[in-house]
Amino acid sequence: MSLDHPTGRQPDHPVAPEFPARWSPRSFTARAVTEAEVMSLLEAARWAPSASNHQPWRLVWARRGEAEFAAIRDTLTGNNPIWAGKAAVLFAVASKDTVTNRTGAEVANRTAGFDSGAAWMSLALQAKTMGLFAHAMGGFDGDALASAIALPVGHTLHCVVAAGEQGPAETLPEDLRARERPSGRKPVDETARHGRF
Ligand SMILES: Cc1cc2nc3c(=O)[nH]c(=O)nc-3n(C[C@H](O)[C@H](O)[C@H](O)COP(=O)(O)O)c2cc1C
Repeated sequence: MSLDHPTGRQPDHPVAPEFPARWSPRSFTARAVTEAEVMSLLEAARWAPSASNHQPWRLVWARRGEAEFAAIRDTLTGNNPIWAGKAAVLFAVASKDTVTNRTGAEVANRTAGFDSGAAWMSLALQAKTMGLFAHAMGGFDGDALASAIALPVGHTLHCVVAAGEQGPAETLPEDLRARERPSGRKPVDETARHGRF
């Protein structure tokens, strides 16, 4: 794993500093985010690429203190609600499953999840440029989250993303405190091959 120091990631190949600088902390300060800041995060997601420019991502957001925030938080599982409940904003990230083809029929959008993944990463990188961090969670109760956000039929939930200003690790419960450090990565040759698998 490439990780020279707990507070700094060392890439194996030259890369823009934004990539290793983004990570997923669990400790957030009490700083709220403004609606304008949320719009900037959503604007970054908006410019993600997508197949035929269908833009299948759908994000439902709420800020800490709002009833809708608590409703999303309460669908998180494991440790997630403990730390993510202190984030400034939560986003439920879903995709619209179908697109309308040239004959007017609704057909499956095979790349919807891929495109929504690009949108989440755009949001996460934008957060970093604003002095914020974003942390995705697959640990949620899908039925509960669908109900909490009134997810329409024909949509698939992917993640809940918590975002806010990073706080000190000391504020986390002990088990999470020990994990509050940027992780490393497999070397590129474990995940990419030249020409053939
Ligand atoms: C789809 C997805 C689901 C994840 N689910 C959780 C989760 O439920 N709880 C959690 O604490 N972190 C979760 N994470 C965060 C990952 O553990 C984290 O991104 C990974 O370890 C790499 O670390 P980094 O983001 O700090 O670089 C998730 C990340 C992604 C992309």
